[in-house]
Amino acid sequence: MKTPVNIAITGAAGRISYALIYRIVAGELLGPEQPINLHLLEVTSELSVLEGIVMELSDCIFPLLNKVIVTDQPNVAFNQADYVFMLGAKPRVLGMERHDLLQANAEIFVLHGRALGEVASRKVKVLVAGNPSNTNTLIALKSAQGLGAENFTALIYLDFHRAIGLLAEQAGVHPNYVKDIVIWGNHSATQYPDIHHAQIKGSAALDCVDYNWFVEEFIPIVQQRGGAIIEALGHSSVASAAYAAVCQMKDWIVDTRSEGWINMAVLSDGSYGIEPGLIYSYPVRVVNGDVEIVRGLDLSEFSIAKMKETELELKAERDAVKHLLTSSD
Ligand code: LMR
Repeated sequence: MKTPVNIAITGAAGRISYALIYRIVAGELLGPEQPINLHLLEVTSELSVLEGIVMELSDCIFPLLNKVIVTDQPNVAFNQADYVFMLGAKPRVLGMERHDLLQANAEIFVLHGRALGEVASRKVKVLVAGNPSNTNTLIALKSAQGLGAENFTALIYLDFHRAIGLLAEQAGVHPNYVKDIVIWGNHSATQYPDIHHAQIKGSAALDCVDYNWFVEEFIPIVQQRGGAIIEALGHSSVASAAYAAVCQMKDWIVDTRSEGWINMAVLSDGSYGIEPGLIYSYPVRVVNGDVEIVRGLDLSEFSIAKMKETELELKAERDAVKHLLTSSD
């Protein structure tokens, strides 16, 4: 039997966690031969909910599940963690934008970031989904002594999948045939879903769909999809968020170099003129477990303006939490 890996989930009593846990222990993330220790972190008042989850996990007799730890202590949850899903955060409700959650959630990411720095594996992969996820990732990264940019990404697959699904629907093809969409910037209403480089069955996407549809419908629908789901469901996305989290973490582990590109929100190194030090979504490839930004894409003036808009929002978010951004080195 392989040595079990430690997977920590914050906000473990929440809806997304409930959808995520079962995918992970069923082998969807690491395959059918990798045993898993689950470390479930929750605030003290919600620990009783986790008792129910632990009972259900036991009742599923998952072959891959080796051990479950339930705790309200970040240092226990993150101890020797190999993979971390940071879901724990106040979710937005109708009428809010994600950045309205910034002050409410920032402190959580300082505390969790510190604990990660103290006890997680030095190779830990931390995927942040709690909103506003890009800036929360920055806070956690800056708080995590001894960890670096290579250890953190913010969830952007939710937008990536939304964009693929919508473009495929418009072109009348299965989403499997859509390649090389880019989501630039923030997981927010300023993100820029870009199809200038996308392909559908090997043809340029912009030859398959109308440019006005791209500008006037596609972009705003992708930008506002989270809000539309809140309006319809009465709460924010759950199943699609959990699925996106599994897919992004999985693609961060496997080598994607042969398959066009994917997207992740990572620490900007100044690529494409974006200010270094923001957590910005870029087209990337994963090579030997490391995320590499795809460079050299031609950008239209329209695209540059859209990329700046979302960069500006990220700068404003960063400035609003500047007091919390103590460097980890
Ligand atoms: C989403 O995009 O569905 C999530 O980030 C939740 C939200 O607040 O929109």
